[in-house]
Amino acid sequence: MSLQSTLTSRVASALQAAGFDESLAGVTPAADTRFGDYQTNAAMVAAKALKKNPREVAASILSHLRVEDLCEVPTVAGAGFINFKVLDAALSETLNGVRGDGRLGVIPVASPKTIIIDFSSPNVAKPMHVGHIRSTILGDSLARIARRLGHRVVTDNHIGDWGTQFGKVIHGWKHLLNREALGEAPIAELVRLYREVNAAEENDPTLKETVRHELVKLQQGDPENLEIWKQAVALSWKEFERLYGLLDISFDERLGESFYNDALAPLVERLLNEGIAEKSEGAVCVFFRESPELEEKPCLIRKSDGGFLYATTDLATLEYREQRWKPDAVWYVTGAPQQLHFEQVFATARRMGVKTDLRHIAFGSILGDDRKMMKTRSGENVELGGLLAEAIERALTVVAGKNPDLPEEEQEEVARIIGLGAVKYADLMQHRLTDYVFSWDKMLSFQGNTAPYLQNAYVRIRSIFRKAEAEGISTAVATIVIADPAERALGLQIIQFGEVLHTVLEDQRPNLLCLYLYELADRFHKFYEACPVLKSEGAVRSSRLTLAGVTADILREGLGLLGIQVPEKM
Ligand code: ARG
Repeated sequence: MSLQSTLTSRVASALQAAGFDESLAGVTPAADTRFGDYQTNAAMVAAKALKKNPREVAASILSHLRVEDLCEVPTVAGAGFINFKVLDAALSETLNGVRGDGRLGVIPVASPKTIIIDFSSPNVAKPMHVGHIRSTILGDSLARIARRLGHRVVTDNHIGDWGTQFGKVIHGWKHLLNREALGEAPIAELVRLYREVNAAEENDPTLKETVRHELVKLQQGDPENLEIWKQAVALSWKEFERLYGLLDISFDERLGESFYNDALAPLVERLLNEGIAEKSEGAVCVFFRESPELEEKPCLIRKSDGGFLYATTDLATLEYREQRWKPDAVWYVTGAPQQLHFEQVFATARRMGVKTDLRHIAFGSILGDDRKMMKTRSGENVELGGLLAEAIERALTVVAGKNPDLPEEEQEEVARIIGLGAVKYADLMQHRLTDYVFSWDKMLSFQGNTAPYLQNAYVRIRSIFRKAEAEGISTAVATIVIADPAERALGLQIIQFGEVLHTVLEDQRPNLLCLYLYELADRFHKFYEACPVLKSEGAVRSSRLTLAGVTADILREGLGLLGIQVPEKM
């Protein structure tokens, strides 16, 4: 059990003994560390419910509270907060537990869930745009954290491989294809075809009709069009896979929209028969007349021309997933603009009897310097491939400047780790719902809340260990003894790691993990300034080395859960 949860259960017992509701016990790290290390507002909540004086309630809880083995005598502050200051001995003991347990204090959830995480999901023949970039980074991190906490996670890349864009792509393929360009940069060539046909179509109604016809032929299974479609999908996958490889991201399932094609027509028929959907002006819709939010926003599942929609596919996908995985939850990691779509899909799913916890994990936009949606200079979507290449290139300049003596090959390896880490971290450190301005200088800086800053803290610790080894100092894991205030501050942060991951997953907010790691690195630096490590001796030295070692382990592990690697040198 973590120190925080031990304190929580002690408060629960005291609440019960004092005649209050024990479920009100909740201990959190102190908001203001001048008053203590942990706090609880249980007295205030209990007092409010019973219309009593919170400070009196606090006093009565305190009279039953047994924590002398863990803390100094708890104090009451402000409107009734109870504050705890952890004893150095108790902190040392907890730290030694974390150091030795092989899990860094992270306790898996008591009842693991099956969670499907639907993320990345780019569209074939269209470049991934910044929305897909955010989904890819965020979804991967959430999957890693959920797994680390013991959940059964299924990641699924629901790519857009079946849609109206294929009319244009097929027409372009037949008339404008540059085979050489397709071999070199397939996605770029497919996008070119799409764009050219799209532009030509604008003022040419006949062409528009021809293009529409190509799409209909594809949908009806015309062998030639089907073959072109297959090739376009395969080429796009190849490029997507290359990027996922670079980003160290993998999926358990890769079932794109096309996989559900055959299920769409029967699904709509069934919903009609069951009275869940209705015909309306030739189309088929699900109405939510009882819902104030969706009353005027029915979910369209079949157009009057017989075509199916994004929502239809999502419903078929959900049915498939329910049967295949029996999930407890499905998380859809897509941008905030898709909010209405998911509200409609979820509401329809409820009507269909789906009980699964369905969540839209929404996020904001990445903005350019002009505070508008990030675009390239020519006004196009930023391609992920180009963005990552630039990140690595810029990181190489930084690394070569900082460490010119590092062999070229190592410089390149470090640049890859730093460049990709910087892009991922800049995204994850933001609250997912906020829009943020993309800035190379900021994300590649070694100062402030950035990936390079954290990677550098890790590298610093590694170099302390290398130096110790070179000097013949034992680096074996030893007993941690907390004495100095800087050791204390670092130790208190270390033991929070296990708690933080649970909080992060509750609201799907990896930015809290970023903040945690930043604070950890900061406290490490303060500790390193205040407490000599290699220059101290005996048990103090081995305790401090061990403290530094655990810090490095958490930095590596925490960054790893964000999908970010650490170099050994930089
Ligand atoms: N391909 C979609 C897009 O680019 C995202 C798909 C998200 N997943 C889902 N099940 N709808 O906007």
